[in-house]
Amino acid sequence: MKSSSIELVPENLLASHKRKLYAEDKITPEEIELVKKIKDKVQENNISLISHYYTDTKIQKITEELNGCVSDSLQMAKFGKESKSNTLVVSGVKFMGETAKILSPEKKVYMPTLEATCSLDLGCPANEFKKFCEDFPDREIVVYANTSAEVKAISDWVVTSSIALDVVDYLDSEGKKIIWGPDKHLGRYIQQKTKADMVLWDGACVVHEEFKYEGLKSLMKLHQDAKVLVHPESPHDVIDLADCVGSTSQIIDYANNSSSQKFIVATDKGIFYQLMKNNPDKEFFEAPTAGDGATCNSCSRCPWMGMNSLENLLDAVSDQGDEIYVDNEIVKKAQISLNRMVNFK
Ligand code: 13P
Ligand code: SF4
Repeated sequence: MKSSSIELVPENLLASHKRKLYAEDKITPEEIELVKKIKDKVQENNISLISHYYTDTKIQKITEELNGCVSDSLQMAKFGKESKSNTLVVSGVKFMGETAKILSPEKKVYMPTLEATCSLDLGCPANEFKKFCEDFPDREIVVYANTSAEVKAISDWVVTSSIALDVVDYLDSEGKKIIWGPDKHLGRYIQQKTKADMVLWDGACVVHEEFKYEGLKSLMKLHQDAKVLVHPESPHDVIDLADCVGSTSQIIDYANNSSSQKFIVATDKGIFYQLMKNNPDKEFFEAPTAGDGATCNSCSRCPWMGMNSLENLLDAVSDQGDEIYVDNEIVKKAQISLNRMVNFK
């Protein structure tokens, strides 16, 4: 007989949380043609492809096949800086392309589309953030990489989720007080872990903010042997349930190295390609995002990451895509905070 906790989540809902191969993994003849053209252009123009784990599986695959970099935002920044190619094509969201350009202003940096932005970046306009910082002149300004070039230019440090804890811990040990922006959930998590003196900007990721405590608890009851992997942009009650809180790379590393066979994952769906490719015998479940009356069980898909397609990637590698330009003065200032990030540790 089923326990009442199991009855909280119907069988069909449970089944729908289990990741199968993506429907969009099935490649059409038109897409095969597009992939061939992209590969030819990348080789002809000696381009380095750099793509985030949340981009479409097909984009991740091409990037891997051409010895590019598929990774989290910190490794993307480091790879772009170290690349010997004169042209970088960054699939992801705008701040990732801007970061690549600031770290290598001499290179041409293209993106499939500059319309792909991020709710954290949009929710932290440089002029308002500057005013906020002026109220706390004695504090070190630490910002998440998910910000505009202008915000980076007025900051002391840029961090990504993979090093945010360590950087704040280091600054705290130096007796520094901190202004943190823009993600309030990540900020709160770091504050709780490090006990550092931090004031937080009020921003959030529209994707991770949707993960639900109650739904996750129900799924955990159904899979009591599953490890729970959570990106720290998620709400604090969801983070509190996690076995691993980390960046996309840290989540993948945890699943690769764990002896557990089952994982519930609270981050963008794009990550399941890597998780399932590396661990074909393990089972992965999507953490629920549905509130009462919602129309999907887990809608965790970044709308901006989803704007990267094979069509606009072909434009980008053909010199017809969106090129990144950053004002020279902004580049010089933002290089200081960004170089601290890539050189940390
Ligand atoms: P990572 O640095 O963990 O890849 O995160 C980037 C991001 O935008 C998460 O939403
Ligand atoms: Fe920004 Fe969230 Fe999309 Fe990441 S998932 S790019 S934080 S909106």
